[in-house]
Amino acid sequence: MSSSVPQKVRGMQDIFGEYQRYFNFLKKVARHEFRKNGFTRISTPIVEMQELIVRSAGIGSDVVSKEMYSFQDRKGRELVLKPESTAGVMRAYLENFLDEPQPVYLYYIEPHFRYDRPQKGRYRQFHQVGAEIIGEIDPVLDAKMIHIGCSVLDNIGLKGRYKLKLNSLGVAKEREKYVQELQSFFEARAHLLDETDIARLRANPLRILDSKNEDVKELLKVAPKITDFLKKESKDFYSKVKAYLDILGVEYEEDHTLVRGLDYYSHTVWEWVDGSGRTQDAFGGGGRYDDLSKNIGHKESVPAVGFALGAERLIETLVDTGVKLRNKDAIHLYFIQLGEDATKMILPLSIEARNRGVNSMLSLGTPSLKVQMKKANRLWARYVAIVGIMEAKKGICQLKDMLNGTQEELRLSDLLDRVVANIDAKELDFYSPTKDFVIEEPKTDSEPSENS
Ligand code: HAM
Repeated sequence: MSSSVPQKVRGMQDIFGEYQRYFNFLKKVARHEFRKNGFTRISTPIVEMQELIVRSAGIGSDVVSKEMYSFQDRKGRELVLKPESTAGVMRAYLENFLDEPQPVYLYYIEPHFRYDRPQKGRYRQFHQVGAEIIGEIDPVLDAKMIHIGCSVLDNIGLKGRYKLKLNSLGVAKEREKYVQELQSFFEARAHLLDETDIARLRANPLRILDSKNEDVKELLKVAPKITDFLKKESKDFYSKVKAYLDILGVEYEEDHTLVRGLDYYSHTVWEWVDGSGRTQDAFGGGGRYDDLSKNIGHKESVPAVGFALGAERLIETLVDTGVKLRNKDAIHLYFIQLGEDATKMILPLSIEARNRGVNSMLSLGTPSLKVQMKKANRLWARYVAIVGIMEAKKGICQLKDMLNGTQEELRLSDLLDRVVANIDAKELDFYSPTKDFVIEEPKTDSEPSENS
């Protein structure tokens, strides 16, 4: 029967079940890595002023020219669903962090929106795990950022499964000269280019470096290289980044065609790509963006460096490469109680189970034993404790081991000892929110109140 319920929006996904578990895992690993390195989390609004994105990513970028989710609000303001977070984080920095000790270390885990052509690894709503260090220029920060990104990839199980590509884009003046030379090189060979590449060459010549055309790829081997246009200062900066990467033990491949799709970069740029060549889509990328603050209208340039990893691409790679996660949501013990007396005996046990780290669930309502067993199966419950009218009278239960199908009679007072002894200690959940907060004594007011 066809349904008239509107479907989910093309290119967007509901995240639940197994996929949500991978997502939580990635968030946890990233949070841990960022915290260990002194970053604090920031969430910027989903919606930004369109002007912020246009000025930062650049009018010729795909993100601005083709992929923006833009709309007007009721007062006619031009807004966008954010396609990335770097511009928003810089805006937030300028509004909130200028008086803080510098540099400022921020990380984010956020949804983003690009009107891309949906396919595997490419969505219209996707998530990025990213980090930015703002307020200091030092090549060691670029190397440190790359190292942190590599640690996240290694720690989620992708060690040895990605490659790091590295390049330097120098400063704006050096790039201008390079772009002119690149443009003249390809204009002289325009007869070898297809329509898309000609359009790229005229609108944003750097985009020609992303061409998939084999002729262009061949020409690029002899075309001018950005690194030949770098002056001493930029060359030195780049050399230092590489020297620090060597000290940190980070392997990289230099790629002079790597320019990234956003206009705000200068000096170091990098991308993590699939080491097996399974996909052309990058796992993530980043770079230095010392001019972004000025481009968006701030009076001076604020040096900064950062990166973002694409959550969906990483999760799909984890699934494809067979990285399996422990299911922390699994129910360890499912109680089936028949009758009010049984319910009264089981309720305190369910509280005790919680305190002993056991994930448990009560079958409430009065469906039949068969229906309740079906539910326990669906939940992948490890054990089922059945307390019927007779069992309640005797203070016992039937404990069913759902893994090997055996069943035994047990005193209710022994039930939790038995279950805890048979569950992997790593699976028990002892999270206690009281570790995460303190209650401050209310301030005593020395001034007598009006009523006293
Ligand atoms: P980006 O290269 O545009 O950089 O995006 C970073 C990552 O986000 C990509 O490598 C990819 O994994 C993921 N991604 C991008 N678009 C999509 C999509 N349509 N579907 C799924 N995943 C996608 C940035 O956004 C910069 N803000 C990174 C940065 C931070 N640079 C400095 N600081």
